[in-house]
Amino acid sequence: MNIAIFVSGNGTNCENLIRYFEHSNQVNCALVVSNKSEAYALVRAERLGVPTKVVSKEQLHNADVMMPLLQQYGIGFIVLAGFLPLVPNYLVNAFPRRIINIHPALLPKYGGKGMWGHHVHEAVKAAGERETGMTVHYVTPVCDSGEIIAQYRVSINPGDSVDDIAEKEHQLEMKYFPKVVEDVLSQFIVHC
Ligand code: GAR
Repeated sequence: MNIAIFVSGNGTNCENLIRYFEHSNQVNCALVVSNKSEAYALVRAERLGVPTKVVSKEQLHNADVMMPLLQQYGIGFIVLAGFLPLVPNYLVNAFPRRIINIHPALLPKYGGKGMWGHHVHEAVKAAGERETGMTVHYVTPVCDSGEIIAQYRVSINPGDSVDDIAEKEHQLEMKYFPKVVEDVLSQFIVHC
């Protein structure tokens, strides 16, 4: 199974996924796609020998650009790892239950437009939550609303800063996200 990882920023999850599947004979991180040319995720991917492609907003929304690109790399599954734009409808339709996203909060809380990265952790802190966590879900055309695949939780102490909360949640992502991806992909792997 060739997968594409879609990114917009730092790329810690992207790198973690590439390393996790580096020696897999079932999952191949075949392509990293970014909507930002300055995304550090691109540097991480290139260092690890994974092809990268930067796409503009117009290209992302153009099926005649994206579908041939994904076909060129034989992509059968897409993982959003810190990818901020909404996924266009044609892509969701072309990859039914084959696009998943990681979100840095316990959806359905703290999801939707504007809820990404540190904005999420700031909102969690402002609300006085006693726990936070990560959610992996299927992608639909509506932001952060697809069926939830897995959630992992961590408690928040009253004295925790926004950075502390972000760090705790990030540790969950590093620990659990690749395994969740692997489990979702295992349904597509035919054992002979
Ligand atoms: C991750 O925390 C991910 O959960 C979040 O962006 C970060 C990307 O970090 N995703 C969202 O906020 C999606 N709404 P990374 O680039 O270092 O992997």
